[in-house]
Amino acid sequence: MLEVLRSIPEMVQRAYALPRPCLDISGPEGVVVLGMGGSAIGGDLLQSWMVEKRGPPVFVNRDYDLPAFVGPKHIVFAVSYSGNTEETISALEQAVRRGCRPVTISSGGALEKMSGPGLHIKLPSGFQPRSAVPLMLLPMLGVVEDLGLAMCGAEVNEAVELLKALIPELGPERPEGENQAKRIALGLHKSFPMVLSGPFLAPVAKRWRTQLNENSKVLAREDTLPEMDHNDLVAWSEDPMAKMCGVVLLRDSREHARVAKRMELTRRLGLHRARFLEEVSSRGEGALARLLTALTVGDFASFYLAVLRGVDPTPVNVIERLKRELAG
Ligand code: PA5
Repeated sequence: MLEVLRSIPEMVQRAYALPRPCLDISGPEGVVVLGMGGSAIGGDLLQSWMVEKRGPPVFVNRDYDLPAFVGPKHIVFAVSYSGNTEETISALEQAVRRGCRPVTISSGGALEKMSGPGLHIKLPSGFQPRSAVPLMLLPMLGVVEDLGLAMCGAEVNEAVELLKALIPELGPERPEGENQAKRIALGLHKSFPMVLSGPFLAPVAKRWRTQLNENSKVLAREDTLPEMDHNDLVAWSEDPMAKMCGVVLLRDSREHARVAKRMELTRRLGLHRARFLEEVSSRGEGALARLLTALTVGDFASFYLAVLRGVDPTPVNVIERLKRELAG
């Protein structure tokens, strides 16, 4: 897992260079990403990225069924690292029946076999699905760029450079005093982790939560401002459980000024009751670098929390068991 984490910058570079289909679709109504778990999170990242780029709307479908609005004018990506996730296969079948020409992204499996001619993006095998997020995200950005909907080439270069600089800061050689991921893991150890962010970094907060679930094997939660100021804040200010929580607050240089103000107030009026709180700042100018740098700190923190807890970050046995039992 550690070696895979260290290779994130190279993975980004490699994924952007993967051969990808050139779609023949003019004036698309939107982008739909079919996927689950580690294969869906790239869709969420694409959604945040596209909002900032003012591109078409992105909808992430984590279900067997496709909503009625999806049709041939949508760019559809069916993403499953294994290629065998039943919800994704079911939604893909529905998309094909509706006349869509989905791009499939997998390392093999049923998705590759179901793909239309020239519409498959083949991923290298040997990763845990959640570790392959850059491999699944970058080809989608590339397809969208090839269609002229939003440009990402310069952003990829910036992200790779910033990630290359970030990785040594988070590595095991760097002591805890200078290593934010280690500090956060220590802070979250034996507390209930809460990962909070503004809307742009919401998919990154979700990714932190799911990496804490799957790598560290702990329950965790994510929430978003400004929405949480309209409900969750009450509990933060009054629930005795707040004292058992460890908070990671994801900050972004482009967050709305009122969200920034809310973050300060939310700290003062509620979050200060947590037993641990640390802010993580995204880095860079472009949306891609900001998303991936904030995400990478979380990947490393969840790895160190696994080490602290004495668990192996890589296997997710119960997910595999559930899939076997569903298939049987
Ligand atoms: O992290 C995981 O292993 C899971 O969340 C999987 O990504 C999820 O079960 C879907 O499988 P796949 O990514 O192969 O489609």
